[in-house]
Amino acid sequence: MKLLVTGAKGQVGSELIRRGRKLGLQMIAASHAECDISNQSLVNTFITHHAPDLVINSAAYTAVDKAEVDNECARAINSQGPANLASACFKLNIPLLHISTDYVFDGFCDTPYGEDDQPNPQGCYGKTKLAGDEAVAKQLKQHIILRVAWVFGACGNNFVRTMLRLGQDHDELRVVADQFGGPTWAGDIAITLLTIAKRYGKDGSIPWGTYHYSSVPAVSWYEFAQAIFAESVKLGLLDKLPKITPITTAEYPTPAQRPQNSVLNCQKIQKQFGIKQPDWRLGLINTLQDWQVQ
Ligand SMILES: NC(=O)c1ccc[n+]([C@@H]2O[C@H](COP(=O)([O-])OP(=O)(O)OC[C@H]3O[C@@H](n4cnc5c(N)ncnc54)[C@H](OP(=O)(O)O)[C@@H]3O)[C@@H](O)[C@H]2O)c1
Repeated sequence: MKLLVTGAKGQVGSELIRRGRKLGLQMIAASHAECDISNQSLVNTFITHHAPDLVINSAAYTAVDKAEVDNECARAINSQGPANLASACFKLNIPLLHISTDYVFDGFCDTPYGEDDQPNPQGCYGKTKLAGDEAVAKQLKQHIILRVAWVFGACGNNFVRTMLRLGQDHDELRVVADQFGGPTWAGDIAITLLTIAKRYGKDGSIPWGTYHYSSVPAVSWYEFAQAIFAESVKLGLLDKLPKITPITTAEYPTPAQRPQNSVLNCQKIQKQFGIKQPDWRLGLINTLQDWQVQ
């Protein structure tokens, strides 16, 4: 089976390429430089040339705060990009697995969000991602939109890397304790997408649509930071635990408003594909161990 992955150098993209090749799949790695998804003619030419069985879009503009002042760029990548990919896939009659985000929700609900809950993104990143999802769903029946959350991994910038850097430089830190979500390891997202792709390869069809996928247990950023520091000390990446003070969102204002609760209900993906929610603490250990050997 031949899979084409856009955004191949990102957190999820790089895991997809590495793990797909290990599984014996033919992986076409399309980096930003090789295939700019905001350019329709480039996308058409690239996909037609490689003729994959399926496309996975892991490319995105992911700088949530920067998107507030860089709307046009975020829109071109997060909204127009998936629309371009869906249009190319439609012409070639191939499916598109597209990754989306928990930030399409406003976070005012106090229970986990299901796939049918009404999105209401608060920031430019979430709004542009939602427009991309809508374009995919409208143009291409053979699509999976996988909404994931709080992504971290060994490659790229993420909360784990930031905390480790801050923990090395500071004895005391303040971390937001009133936003809740499900941290999700890029490796687990890649495994999930490859499981879905393989099922398509085997059955020729799958239950298309939108799915939620994130890890357990749901935590606040503060609790996530506590776990990061505890594991980092255990693995010798940090000499000692920094003192962490829990603070409110109001005490740490950011350009983009983030959802207070973006915990995802992931029952649908378990029912349709048998994919269970993993424990992010294992992904955290994997990530830190990767840095330990570097
Ligand atoms: N990161 C999170 O916490 C998070 C949370 C929820 C959902 N998600 C979603 O999960 C997916 C994967 O995110 P990630 O964390 O793996 O992102 P990432 O590490 O930021 O990787 C995104 C990749 O997309 C590439 N890219 C940017 N603009 C592009 C363009 N015009 N054409 C082609 N490639 C382009 C980037 O390349 P350059 O760096 O060279 O520009 C980068 O390699 C995205 O859909 C994201 O919205 C992420």
